[in-house]
Amino acid sequence: METLLPKNITNTIDHWIQKFPQGKQRSAIIAALHAVQHHNKGFLTNDLLNQVADYIDVPKMNVYEVATFYSMFQTKPVGKHEIAVCNNISCMLRGSNEIIDHLEKKLSIGLGESTPDGNIFLKKEEECLAACTGAPMMMVDHIYIENLTIKKVDEILERLQKSND
Ligand code: FES
Repeated sequence: METLLPKNITNTIDHWIQKFPQGKQRSAIIAALHAVQHHNKGFLTNDLLNQVADYIDVPKMNVYEVATFYSMFQTKPVGKHEIAVCNNISCMLRGSNEIIDHLEKKLSIGLGESTPDGNIFLKKEEECLAACTGAPMMMVDHIYIENLTIKKVDEILERLQKSND
C-alpha cells in the first residue's frame, strides 16, 4: 500500500516513540495522530489510522480507540482550522454565547459545521477547558485563546482566512 505518512510526520512519530520505554510505543499514539491529523488538513481517515498503527507497530484497534475516544480527533472530513468555544459556566457568564453567535453569523455556519471552502470547522461547544480565569475562551487549532472579545475573534478569523498553513 502507498505510504500516506511523509518523512516529516514519521520523524515526529519517531521523536515521540523515543520518549517512552521500549515496548511502550503505544503511548505515542496521541502525538502521532495529532501530527497526522494536522498534515491531513484537520481529520483522520481509516487508511491513515491503519498506517499509524503499522508504523508504530501496535494493533489497529489501539489507534482506533484513541481516535474515536478523544474529541480532539476528527474522523470525518472537516475544515482545516478548528475553532472550539468553551461554553461552560465561567465562559457562559462572561459572554461565550455572544461569541458563538458572532462566529456562526460571521462564518454563516452552525456549530458542528465547516465553511464551504473547507477552511474553518466550528466545533460543537466544549466543556470547561480549565482556563476559567481567562473566560471567555476558545481553542483555535488546539491553542488556547483567552479573554475573548468580538474584536479579538474577528482578528483571529481574518488571520485564519489568510493563512495557508
Ligand atoms: S468554563 Fe470555560 S474554561 Fe472553564
